Amino acid sequence: MKKAVYPGTFDPVTLGHLDIIERSSKIFDQVIVGILANQSKTPLFTVAERIDMLQRSTSHLDNIEIASFEGLLVDFVKQCDAQVIIRGLRAITDFEYEIQMAHTNRIMAPDLDTLFLTTSLNYAYLSSSTVREVGMLGGNIDIFLPPYAADKVREKYKIAKGEYL
Ligand code: COA
Repeated sequence: MKKAVYPGTFDPVTLGHLDIIERSSKIFDQVIVGILANQSKTPLFTVAERIDMLQRSTSHLDNIEIASFEGLLVDFVKQCDAQVIIRGLRAITDFEYEIQMAHTNRIMAPDLDTLFLTTSLNYAYLSSSTVREVGMLGGNIDIFLPPYAADKVREKYKIAKGEYL
C-alpha cells in the first residue's frame, strides 16, 4: 500500500491545499494530512478546529485521513507507515525553504522521499495568512476557502455571510 503524508499548519485549509490533497489522493492509496500542533506560529484555529475543517472539506475523498502531530515530521511519517512526504510548490520563492526541508528530512530519514506537486495556477498566490487577513477585514473569502472553512473564519471574526466590503 502506497501511503503519503501531506503536512502543514492548515490555519485554515484553503482551496490550494485541497487541490494538492485531491491530486495526491489519485497518486497514493492513502494520504494522511498531518496538522502540526506544536510550532512557533500562533494559529487562529485550535488543532481540533483544523481537524474538523479538513475532515469536512475532504469528506468526498475516501482515502484521506486527518491527524495531528508534534515533534519531527519524519517520526510522524514513520509512525504512519508512510514512505512519502507531499509538499506543494506555489512559486519559486517556496523552493529554497522546501529544498532545505526536504534535504534535512532525507538526511534524518533516508528511506523517506519528498514529492513536490506544483500548485494549480489558480492558487499559486494563496496562503492561509493572506486569507485570514482578508476575512478579518471583511473581504469575500468564499473564493479562497472550502465552504465550511469560510464559515468558520467568518464565525471567528463575527462577520455574517454576504456582508462583504
Ligand atoms: N495552497 C495554499 N497555501 C499553501 C499551499 C497551497 N498549496 N502550500 C502552502 N501554503 C501556505 C500555507 O497556507 C502557509 O501560509 P501561512 O504561512 O500564510 O500560514 C504557508 O504556505 C506555509 O505553510 P505550510 O505548508 O502549512 O507549511 P509550514 O511551513 O507551516 O509547515 C511543516 C511546514 C509542518 C511541514 C514543517 O514545519 C515541519 O515539518 N515541522 C515539524 C518539525 C520538523 O520536523 N522540523 C524539521 C523540518 S526540516
